Amino acid sequence: MTSFSRPLSPSPLKKRPKIMSVPAPLNPGQRVLMGPGPSDANPRVLRAMATPLIGHLDPDFIQIMDEIKDMLRTAFRTQNELTIPISAPGSAGMETCLVNLLEPGDRAIVCVNGVFGGRMADIVERCGATAIRVEAEWGQPIAPEKVADALAANSAKLVCIVHAETSTGVLQPLEEIANLAHEHEALIVVDTVTSFCGSALEVDAWGLDAVYTGTQKCLSAPPGISPVTFSERAVAVMDARKTKVQSWFLDLSMVRNYWTGAKRAYHHTAPVSSMYALHEALRIVLEEGLEPRWKRHQQNHVLLRHGLQEIGFKYLVSPEYRLPMLNAVHLPSGCEDAALRGALLDRYGIEVGGGLGQFAGKLWRIGLMGESCTPNHVHMLLSALRSLL
Ligand SMILES: Cc1ncc(COP(=O)(O)O)c(C=O)c1O
Repeated sequence: MTSFSRPLSPSPLKKRPKIMSVPAPLNPGQRVLMGPGPSDANPRVLRAMATPLIGHLDPDFIQIMDEIKDMLRTAFRTQNELTIPISAPGSAGMETCLVNLLEPGDRAIVCVNGVFGGRMADIVERCGATAIRVEAEWGQPIAPEKVADALAANSAKLVCIVHAETSTGVLQPLEEIANLAHEHEALIVVDTVTSFCGSALEVDAWGLDAVYTGTQKCLSAPPGISPVTFSERAVAVMDARKTKVQSWFLDLSMVRNYWTGAKRAYHHTAPVSSMYALHEALRIVLEEGLEPRWKRHQQNHVLLRHGLQEIGFKYLVSPEYRLPMLNAVHLPSGCEDAALRGALLDRYGIEVGGGLGQFAGKLWRIGLMGESCTPNHVHMLLSALRSLL
């Protein structure tokens, strides 16, 4: 008897589909988001997400896309033609910049003073390029002299750097390093995931070539989209590539046709509801104005700092390099990280972030981002902490 004529019986190896009961409707706890992101969203943004769906090539959607690009240019302070949102989170924006600008065999100087500089170095190497790391102690900015030395010793195509290092709370001055990169005919790639719409960022005036950000921090839209912008110099480098971009999804030579082409060609199905949210969040930023928004972040940071220092928290970063929207602080002596964060969440619904990488368990990262950057948030957190300590 061949195996074909054997009578059919259920194989003991075959898994049967599990019968599960339908879970209860979504009902997550009410939270005050004061961690490293996401931040609280304005109800206008949440309502925008409930706008009925339309097709991602509908003429009305094309108009929404054009308005998003214009508002992003204003928020990035740039005239760059190639300014678009990538349909994936901040790490995909990072990857978009690097996979499109690097080819195998290239060299990139990567400034590493925290988790996200380290992530950039990892991606550079996955592109088949060499990452030349310029390091600073975590909690310190990168010294321009070190970048100058690395540029003098290597012919590098890119200098990659994080403007607001969310793992340490350091604000990195950029202009001098951008000038150094250009003196050596390199492009500067900048991570602005945490600084965008929260502290001064001048893409054109500072000469930044490839810049990416995220939606879930000071823009206060839901996570999942990464706006990027590229200078003409950067576009010329992409256009002169000899090899195909290793990632199909992030290859800007194709994504561009969907976002900027005269005749918009299908590339992927854009996350329509997330783009509605981005549109509304950008409208809110422009209504407030960039400078007043930067000022608001600074003022609430000062308010929080006074209160935290009074109850024994100590800042990791020295005052001139402190991020206003991400406060990296050591706990008062005798406090236990996980227990105190757990109590804040359980009793008051307030989320703050723990340390990342070498700071895991050692410090807190308190976010004051976008809609979560108000005096009310500061007072709520401080009084909850006072009652717990
Ligand atoms: C500075 C920085 N870069 C990149 C990322 C990655 O963004 P995402 O988590 O949206 O992929 C983050 C996220 O926290 C960040 O803070």
